[in-house]
Amino acid sequence: MSPTLLTRPELINLHPSPGDVCAAVAQGLARQPRQLPPWLLYDQEGSRLFEAICRQPEYHVTRLEKDLLQRHGSHVGHCCAGRNGAAPLTVVEFGAGGAHKVTPLLHALQPVAYVALDISATHVHRACIGLQTLHPQVSMVAVCCDYGQLPALPDHPLLAGQRLGFFPGSSLGNCSRAGAVALLHHMATLLGPGSLLLIGMDQPQDIAAMEAAYDDAAGVSARFARNLLVRLNRELGANFQPRHFAYQARWDASEQRIEMALVSQREQVVSIPPLETVVPWASGETLVTEHSHKWGAEEVQAIAQEAGWHGVGRWCDGQDRFSLHLMEHGSLSPC
Ligand SMILES: C[S@@+](CC[C@H](N)C(=O)[O-])C[C@H]1O[C@@H](n2cnc3c(N)ncnc32)[C@H](O)[C@@H]1O
Repeated sequence: MSPTLLTRPELINLHPSPGDVCAAVAQGLARQPRQLPPWLLYDQEGSRLFEAICRQPEYHVTRLEKDLLQRHGSHVGHCCAGRNGAAPLTVVEFGAGGAHKVTPLLHALQPVAYVALDISATHVHRACIGLQTLHPQVSMVAVCCDYGQLPALPDHPLLAGQRLGFFPGSSLGNCSRAGAVALLHHMATLLGPGSLLLIGMDQPQDIAAMEAAYDDAAGVSARFARNLLVRLNRELGANFQPRHFAYQARWDASEQRIEMALVSQREQVVSIPPLETVVPWASGETLVTEHSHKWGAEEVQAIAQEAGWHGVGRWCDGQDRFSLHLMEHGSLSPC
């Protein structure tokens, strides 16, 4: 029996607790170099700023991926239908944000349901409400959560049936290689047996272009990173002085990644009351806010295979700058 159509997307809010935020900050500041998990970048203002980054001329990722999805969405749909038959399908997007990329898939696949997972509750809920007007036949649920820590998809009637995971935005590259294998394993568990997964990945390319993508001339990426400190001041009562931290985005060739960091511009001391300590910063000391690994298409397939996913379709732009990978868990035959 198919579940009743939801006419207004509901929000299931499983945001990490203030204690979880505190623990993540304590752990991250104990690392050398200091490094916080990227999900902390996305409070409401962080999500707004990320959308602004996507509109910057230097940020090729969004434009290339949207273009690939427009051009190949129906082929992706054909491959999925070939494997899934007529079974009702649910699309589960990991890190959906403003949900600006999924429309070609919803058109091609005609799923019964769309589930948007994101750490930023209001942002993802609003995105689903907007998307619902374009796709009135698709039931939608927004789930605010850290998808990396989610033990299972919420028990919801819409989540029955076959699932296609959708993980765009090159977000897999935020993980180390071992972290990416672990996350893809976790996604397989969340999505269930026989699931499909479509991943969008930015590829290694001209270094200046990659660095500019993460450090735009208008300074939006820098504001996005500094907003992390504003968030910690608001939520933890910390006293970071964002203007005393400079933003940098640098290509690290040995690690195949852009490293984004805030660099202390002076010796300073920051108090974070719930941690019951003050944190000293040397001049030039960094706080890594995010990594963006750039793996070529073969490397992405190798990482996915270690997690039990096998490529069934792959699409690249003409200049090999961005790739879409359709995977099936446990299967070997291409579509
Ligand atoms: C790089 S943005 C990509 C947004 C959108 N999917 C796109 O392709 O433009 C990453 C998105 O994932 C969300 N996010 C980051 N880490 C997350 C986590 N651990 N759990 C859930 N959502 C996360 C952020 O809120 C943000 O919307």
